[in-house]
Amino acid sequence: MSTSPSSSSRECGVAVLGFGTVGAGVVETLLHNGDLLAARTGVRPVLRGIADLDTTTDRHIPDLPAGLLTTDSPALLARPDVHIVVELIGGTGIARRLVEQALALGKPVVTANKKLLAEAGPELYALAEANHTQLYFEASVGGGIPILKALREGLAANHITSIYGILNGTCNYILTRMEQEALPFATVLASAQQLGYAEAEPSLDIDGLDTAHKAAVLATLAYGAPAPLAQIPVQGIRDISPLDIQSARSLGYRIKLLAILRKGPRGIEASVQPTLLPLDHTLAAVSGVFNAVQVEGDVVGTTLYYGRGAGRAATASAVCADIADAALDLLAGAPRHPRSPAASAETPLPFAPPDLITARHYLRFNLHDVPGSFARVAACLANHDIGLESIIQNETPDDAPSAAPGYVPVSVTTQPAPAGALDLALAEIGATPDLVQPPITRFRIEALA
Ligand code: HSE
Repeated sequence: MSTSPSSSSRECGVAVLGFGTVGAGVVETLLHNGDLLAARTGVRPVLRGIADLDTTTDRHIPDLPAGLLTTDSPALLARPDVHIVVELIGGTGIARRLVEQALALGKPVVTANKKLLAEAGPELYALAEANHTQLYFEASVGGGIPILKALREGLAANHITSIYGILNGTCNYILTRMEQEALPFATVLASAQQLGYAEAEPSLDIDGLDTAHKAAVLATLAYGAPAPLAQIPVQGIRDISPLDIQSARSLGYRIKLLAILRKGPRGIEASVQPTLLPLDHTLAAVSGVFNAVQVEGDVVGTTLYYGRGAGRAATASAVCADIADAALDLLAGAPRHPRSPAASAETPLPFAPPDLITARHYLRFNLHDVPGSFARVAACLANHDIGLESIIQNETPDDAPSAAPGYVPVSVTTQPAPAGALDLALAEIGATPDLVQPPITRFRIEALA
């Protein structure tokens, strides 16, 4: 780092790779709030360059100094006056190669790229360690919510018992509108795409993968486990119907797409699944594009973090906090809070087999409307030790998931049962001739207090 000629504070050179929505937010924040960061940390982040293949689109930053833009990321990050590299390209192709190049040069990297961390985290942490530098990734989970800082620093004295997170704004926005306007999923998705709240190719969000990437990052920090994407069962929100929302409500619940990480008897129980939450629970009140994470620690008890999980400004806030952290670490000559997963737990916990995760469930299916049908369903469930708690035989609204003539939609809730036992029971029910019309929809229930 160099000493600023104009002040006693030190300067630290920053390269921003990727000048999309978040990149533009970061550049804007560094330009407008750089003095604040310098005052708070004693290190002034100075933008040395911005790399993007597109150097002509107007990013609406009127005071952007001339001469900063380049298309040559490798050359920019290698410059001797660049001390911190900010990767905001996304994906696991060129972004991974550039992150590896920067780490190999011993330069700290700040990234918002949860997909990269979920898929290649262990290799990148090892590369950083081997080159005596760090990877900073606050913006990868929960946008502007400082949830990783809370886990790493604020809750450092705690064993983490559980994490429940609403981590995808697109899904939460869609579910909120489905409930408030009693509209089906496809209608709200199309409208969200038109309004720019959902991507044209929305599957990463609505099929739950984005939430799973974030859950993997949280698991790494909370439990020291390597990114376990393959071990996180993932179910998105496509199957949620207005009927489910209505049935859940009549039972006192609201449906949210929830990432759950919980310390269980066999290790970390991880899943991403539509989950019925009690209407009066704080997470059930999180609406629209907002994210929220509830973390329980063995010392502190329950804590809650809430805010914007995406967007230019919110994500830029987290990226710039990481730039400040990286600058302070450079100044100190050593990381003040080690980021490698190995430093996150005494012993990394294993992941529990998903089929042994025990929970209550909500099921909805179209049942053959003849005497005795429901008793046969209940018997199949009972054969696998699964008890029932409540049953709703729904009126068939016009927009109900289509039931064939002679079938009626039924929703039930079960007592706690291992997911694997439920799989077997539902397979048996589905294979019984003339009993239910597939598919059988299932969500989780969490009676959080
Ligand atoms: N697409 C994500 C969301 C934000 O809708 O929350 C980036 O992870």
